[in-house]
Amino acid sequence: MHEKIVYLNGSFVPESEAKVSVLDMGFHAGDGVYDVTRTFRHKPFKLKEHNDRLFRSLKYTRIDCGMSQEEMEAAALEVLERNRDLLGPDDDYAIWQVISRGPRSSTGPRRNNDATVAIYCMDVDFTGFCRHYVEGVTIIVPATRRIPPQCLESKAKITNKMNHIIATFEARQADPKAIPLMLDLDGNIAESNAHNFFAVIDGKVYTPGSKNVLGGITRAVLGELSDRLDMEVEETNLTPYDCLNADEAFLTSTSPTIVPIRSINGVGFPYDVPGPVTLRLLKGWSDLVGIDIVGQAIDHMGEEKDELMAAWNEKQAALGL
Ligand SMILES: Cc1ncc(COP(=O)(O)O)c(C=O)c1O
Repeated sequence: MHEKIVYLNGSFVPESEAKVSVLDMGFHAGDGVYDVTRTFRHKPFKLKEHNDRLFRSLKYTRIDCGMSQEEMEAAALEVLERNRDLLGPDDDYAIWQVISRGPRSSTGPRRNNDATVAIYCMDVDFTGFCRHYVEGVTIIVPATRRIPPQCLESKAKITNKMNHIIATFEARQADPKAIPLMLDLDGNIAESNAHNFFAVIDGKVYTPGSKNVLGGITRAVLGELSDRLDMEVEETNLTPYDCLNADEAFLTSTSPTIVPIRSINGVGFPYDVPGPVTLRLLKGWSDLVGIDIVGQAIDHMGEEKDELMAAWNEKQAALGL
């Protein structure tokens, strides 16, 4: 067993040796961008799409990472290769690509164009979200609004997450397990701290338009998946009122993929979670990536595994799936 290997500024080094300067602009100003690609069955999923978004974020923030996109993707694949032997058969990685503007100088001119580029593998934390598939997440709409794109473009994936962190604290004050669902300045639903939002109303799937949200890769894949499943997905403005009156709601994000919602501000939905549309999408996603994504998460749950699998099988049977 060896330590995980990290790519840092052109070298592959053990994780404990991958050190970044205290003068790094990412450290003291959140001046950086990042992206995260998940593996399914140890294979990276949509690596190119994640890197397309990473390079759009770099362009917007005027950070020169000193690498072409092809070189960046090759480095990410190399990091995966060098850590592949540490994966158990049921495990998967989230491959993080994090780039800051690099260290400023404490002596000469402050500006520096030596970006810090780090790529590393995090174990997908199935235990963190497994119960969400079976029980759903509780959502709280916090007072803090999503920073509008007029101030900072929501489409860019920026390392400064303070907007999302404050929203998370507010939601957790109301319910320690809640996920925040932020509104935009006009009072329409934007996104969570780390997910895009969807509501099912009269059999149709709705999601906020792209203006105030990160263009989630999972959100885009969900669009493709719904075509295959003959479901309609439409972008529209959604208020909390619309969502409280929806039939089902769910979130999307790279690691868990589709996360059923149990309640919003304490108000539940007519269906037990996951609702029929959410369950069909979860099953469709499993077919897409060739692994039972809920089963994989449940397999990581130790002593809770049997109870969760029984509950999950019961829910599927109740919906005839
Ligand atoms: C603010 C925000 N919105 C949405 C998402 C979902 O994006 P993706 O599906 O690409 O993971 C994320 C992912 O981390 C996020 O941080």
